[in-house]
Amino acid sequence: MLYIGIDLGTSAVKLLLMDESGGILNIVSEEYPLYFPRPGWSEQNPADWYEKTIIGMEKLLDGADRSKVAGISFGGQMHGLVILDENDEVIRPAILWNDGRTGEECDYLNNTVGRDKLTSYTANIAFTGFTAPKLLWLRKHEPENFAKIKKIMLPKDYIAYRLSGVHCTDVSDASGMLLFDVKNRSWSKEMCDICGIREDMLAQCFESYESVGTLLPSVASQLGIPGSCVIAAGAGDNAAAAVGTGTVGADMCNISLGTSGTVFITTDKFRVDNNNALHSFAHADGGYHLMGCMLSAASCNKWWMDEIIGTKDYSREQAGIDKLGDNHVFFLPYLMGERSPHNDPDARGTFIGMTMDTTRGDMTQAVLEGVAFALRDSFEVARSLGINPVRAKICGGGARSPLWRKIIANVLNLELDIIESEEGPALGGAILAAVACGEYSDVREAAEKIVKVVDTVSPDSELVSKYNERYNIFKQIYPVCSPLYKII
Ligand code: XUL
Repeated sequence: MLYIGIDLGTSAVKLLLMDESGGILNIVSEEYPLYFPRPGWSEQNPADWYEKTIIGMEKLLDGADRSKVAGISFGGQMHGLVILDENDEVIRPAILWNDGRTGEECDYLNNTVGRDKLTSYTANIAFTGFTAPKLLWLRKHEPENFAKIKKIMLPKDYIAYRLSGVHCTDVSDASGMLLFDVKNRSWSKEMCDICGIREDMLAQCFESYESVGTLLPSVASQLGIPGSCVIAAGAGDNAAAAVGTGTVGADMCNISLGTSGTVFITTDKFRVDNNNALHSFAHADGGYHLMGCMLSAASCNKWWMDEIIGTKDYSREQAGIDKLGDNHVFFLPYLMGERSPHNDPDARGTFIGMTMDTTRGDMTQAVLEGVAFALRDSFEVARSLGINPVRAKICGGGARSPLWRKIIANVLNLELDIIESEEGPALGGAILAAVACGEYSDVREAAEKIVKVVDTVSPDSELVSKYNERYNIFKQIYPVCSPLYKII
């Protein structure tokens, strides 16, 4: 049997074809535009997602035995607001996870409704990218669109709907809406009231590995796939990535270096960070996780390479970098504001420390190190809660760079396991589809059998102590700059 994992990312949709024993047969990627209508705003057209998913699926299945496709599932960019009218038409472009327009709404939720109430209803507080503050923004700024809402969906769930005809979501992705009672894995009536919506506007919520239905006959005949093909609920991209790297069960850690950068720590029991710096979400394996999310990670390097230096040859730029731990240039990677742990949509990217002898290589190194230091900020929060991972998996586009992996292993002082495939969310999606079809008894068994560690990067104690010193400087820069970010 064959299983398809669809990773609906921010820059592209990636599709992966897997056989029943976990062999990866094909991977394709299709890009779509990302719009920044104003500084700090970020939108995409759901129609582009669907169009590129279908084009990608055609390419993915080229030469494959389509009659064997038994299941499809997803990892998807989280938190995006997709709204449908009474005819299930998309009302306006989706407002994405890295959109910072809802500062006022977050202040209202966190300070007027209050952090304690939000935490007791949802296990989390408001961050600008989360879905509930976007509903409040829409109600105030686009009341005519708000009045038309019949269904509120998340990005990957819109694709699941187009494929299956079912309005569905899953517990991991629902957790990031601030409309979900994470502990009890059900919608929060209180949050629906606060946002002025009815619970029936939200999708039916499934566990990630559950079937929501089968492929619509029209799509099945378009793609030449059996109509019996199961559509499984899937997961938010970070939970799906965790499945795809085998970060399931308790006390495991995964680092994702994609457009965003995340530190994902599994817990078998529900728990909350009392300072709310880490998100408390449901996991795709039936458990829970804590997560820190930085809004710009591999995207900082992409911006620096593509837009500023003007090269596509990332490995050549990194080839000459050998003075790890001695760089006196620092980079604060806040190109879209920052979520964890600062919760500051006004934060901005910042270089500091250059001198006349600073080279292009030093600045490239500073970008890679700045992302690693910002990931460490989330690690420090976890450590303050008594959680001290000594080993982690890594996935995402940035994980392909051996230099970046080495920097991260030493800045975080972690054994870093490299997985055979860095396609975390797409592989996780395919695994969830296989579980939904009964190929494996549960997510844990599937991940243990399918995911393979091929290498480990170990920290070097001398470099770890040099990076400890550098990190102690890095963490002093944001508090000094933060008042300036408000007026820049
Ligand atoms: C997680 C988050 C990002 C997006 C990126 O909270 O906002 O990781 O899911 O796709």
